[in-house]
Amino acid sequence: MDYFHYRNRVLHCEEVAVPQLADAYGTPLFIYSQRTLLHHLNQLKRAFADAKPLICYSLKTNPNLSICRLMAENGAGFDVTSGGELFRALKAGGTGDKIVFAGVGKTDAELRYGLENNVLMFNVESEAELMALAEVSRTMNRQPAVALRVNPALPPKTHVKTDTSVKGTKFGLDIDSVLEFAQKVVDHRHVRIVGLHMHLGSPILDTKPYREGLEKAVVLVERLRKQGHRIETMNMGGGFGIHYRKQEALPADAFAEVILPAVKAMQCKLILEPGRFIVGNAGILLSRVIYTKESGGRNFVIQDAAMNDLIRPTLYDSFHRIWPVEPPTGFPAPPEDYETEIPGARKWDVVGAICESGDFLAKDRRLPAVQRGDLLAIFSAGAYGMAMSSNYNSRPRAAEVLVDGASHRLIRRRETYEDLIRPEIEIEHGERGE
Ligand code: LLP
Repeated sequence: MDYFHYRNRVLHCEEVAVPQLADAYGTPLFIYSQRTLLHHLNQLKRAFADAKPLICYSLKTNPNLSICRLMAENGAGFDVTSGGELFRALKAGGTGDKIVFAGVGKTDAELRYGLENNVLMFNVESEAELMALAEVSRTMNRQPAVALRVNPALPPKTHVKTDTSVKGTKFGLDIDSVLEFAQKVVDHRHVRIVGLHMHLGSPILDTKPYREGLEKAVVLVERLRKQGHRIETMNMGGGFGIHYRKQEALPADAFAEVILPAVKAMQCKLILEPGRFIVGNAGILLSRVIYTKESGGRNFVIQDAAMNDLIRPTLYDSFHRIWPVEPPTGFPAPPEDYETEIPGARKWDVVGAICESGDFLAKDRRLPAVQRGDLLAIFSAGAYGMAMSSNYNSRPRAAEVLVDGASHRLIRRRETYEDLIRPEIEIEHGERGE
């Protein structure tokens, strides 16, 4: 659930009318609901309470410092995947003892940065990485804790670009050869294998992959222990799905029901790395219609958000609910299910101003008639929206605002044209020739 709702035919985020935010901060604008963020974090805490898990917010999902700080203040740790993410986690009040360092290609500098900040654990994805970590640790006279990230070779479960646990992806150690490799590093002086890591892909709308992955993990943990590794933690990554189309996501309890007994049986401490589940439904992208037009037998809404603000539709064919912020009479709120006919609605392609046909937020989308100046809400945009935004077409990135009850605060200002060129170094070429 979330705290975006229509009241008197006007979309509100918590107690704040969304048009008021458009007036105050302009569009395109990411609007986050603090109550929703905390509600989802608390749902996870409650569902998994029996295991007293360490919930490491997956910072890549939405790295805004204020959102990360909210997570840290409410007891979460961080899953970071680069030196830059570690920097952010620390800036936001995170501490090494609650940070897990993931990622398939950590450089020596990043490994050292992690060691300097005493991260709780490195999730290691290859033999080469473990050797590099051991070498950096040797120079610093350290013996960090390591979780082996294993690819359990499961059937496909998400979009091909976000499925990480099918055979042949770049992620993790091959489940068939991980034991052979682990045997070589028993009692290593500069790395300590203390856990297993298994992030299965994202978003997952079913508990089956977790069940299948854990069945393999249970066996593996036992064998690793037999080899002499002191396995104490099981990190199940993130991946819990959210509502994009309708109410399709499973509650946290459903995942807990599968994960808790297995982790208990393994006698391991549980780590989770949720991102989307916490922040996805807690954010909308607000845009304003610039023009409408008809061309080639299609209706276009051209609005001021674009693929540089939200790349998910064009990159993953993702579906985001879209609806006017102040819908006309007869269309009080977004439909429960977009698949069904909406009387009086037309089909629109909702597009941005970028010079590519791939620049769309929705295709063939049933919407009431909209016109120049109308505000549109693009829902479930809190995860991997701003995080994956760019300056393509030299578009300054959107502002971000955090709503808490009746108050709202800017947490990232809109970029200016000057921001666009700030890191560039302009060379004057002068005139060549005689
Ligand atoms: N842990 C690891 C190791 C991950 O790779 C990810 C996400 C997570 C945790 C968090 O997953 P979540 O709880 O958010 O599902 N850009 C794509 C999603 C890419 C996911 C990358 N890894 C999208 O917009 O759908």
